Amino acid sequence: MKYDSKRLMKFATDLFEKAGMPTLEAEISARSLVEADMRGVGSHGLMRLRTYAKRITTGVVKAGVKPSVVRDKPASLLVDGKNGMGCVVALDVMQLCMKRAEETGACFAAVYNGNHFGIASLFTVAAAEAGFIGLALSNATASVVPYGGAVPKLGANPLSVAIPSGRRRPLVLDMATSVVAQGKIIQANKEGRTIPEGWAVDAQGQPTTDPAAALKGSMLPFGGPKGYAIGLIIQILCSALCGANSDPAIPSFWNNFEDPQNLGFFLGAIKIDGFATPEQYGGRIDALMDGIKACPPAPGVAEVLLPGELEFRNQDLAEKQGIELSDPIAGDLRALAGEYGVDGGVFG
Ligand SMILES: NC(=O)c1ccc[n+]([C@@H]2O[C@H](COP(=O)([O-])OP(=O)(O)OC[C@H]3O[C@@H](n4cnc5c(N)ncnc54)[C@H](O)[C@@H]3O)[C@@H](O)[C@H]2O)c1
Repeated sequence: MKYDSKRLMKFATDLFEKAGMPTLEAEISARSLVEADMRGVGSHGLMRLRTYAKRITTGVVKAGVKPSVVRDKPASLLVDGKNGMGCVVALDVMQLCMKRAEETGACFAAVYNGNHFGIASLFTVAAAEAGFIGLALSNATASVVPYGGAVPKLGANPLSVAIPSGRRRPLVLDMATSVVAQGKIIQANKEGRTIPEGWAVDAQGQPTTDPAAALKGSMLPFGGPKGYAIGLIIQILCSALCGANSDPAIPSFWNNFEDPQNLGFFLGAIKIDGFATPEQYGGRIDALMDGIKACPPAPGVAEVLLPGELEFRNQDLAEKQGIELSDPIAGDLRALAGEYGVDGGVFG
């Protein structure tokens, strides 16, 4: 069934406020979840609201803290995320990077004491819409085997790059470095669906289509050894540089409400005008993207899409027609409204 996006946004904001967040933090956190659902990324949408809220009420994630810069070079920052809400800290630090990049042309930040930051494109699209190339990486609880390995040593370490365009909306890569985000397996498990072969292995390392068995086992890196290498590079940029936990030491987002995750982010903003005038750049990127869009589709494919195009289309449609939520997820949110004493009228 479909639900109105603005009403869902109000519901999630109210709930985060009840859990103890100041209003602005509650709004950013709600936006991360609602926009994920709007973009068709349900694995990082409202199905996580119960766990995020519990992480605030138990105090394993701190509400109302401000990240602080502890090492400051013209184009690089080391930041203590102070165990604040991941998406709030990452958006704040991306804004610091953009401000600094106005002067220096580019700025990168490594953040420790972070928490799960949701969809990485929340921060990179904010940068691209302000005229910067945005980069966002995070490490995560180990759930992915290294290529050829039998036990998980890497997180699904997300990678997002958003690039401003001329006439079009930004080009947005936003991906897990596992074949799919683990949330998609959790979602399939909640909804009683099987998963495609090639996503995961069970606890014995055997391929499985059973999401419950996959959750006891490990996910596979995308692209075999290449995805494994990219996931490992993200782990290094997000832990060795800043001293955050490395993936195998990161406590679970879902089950551990006692130990702070202390995960790491690597964020960056690159200003286009350090390289080209807006006219030069706009002309070049428009020509490039036009060329891709003009590619004849393969048999059985309707259209060649640019990275991020599908998610923007989903978002526009969800704004007009509402967000599709499965019955188990809507039921859980309705129950959550009762538990926190907020208006759950959006769920009927
Ligand atoms: N915070 C975390 O710890 C964490 C961990 C893993 C993933 N995530 C998030 O999970 C989300 C989902 O990740 P995913 O790997 O399942 O994403 P996905 O597989 O749905 O999409 C990956 C990329 O492929 C592009 N794409 C998809 N179909 C396309 C098509 N037909 N043509 C052209 N491009 C296409 C998308 O625009 C996107 O950039 C992301 O937002 C990611 O940031 C977060």
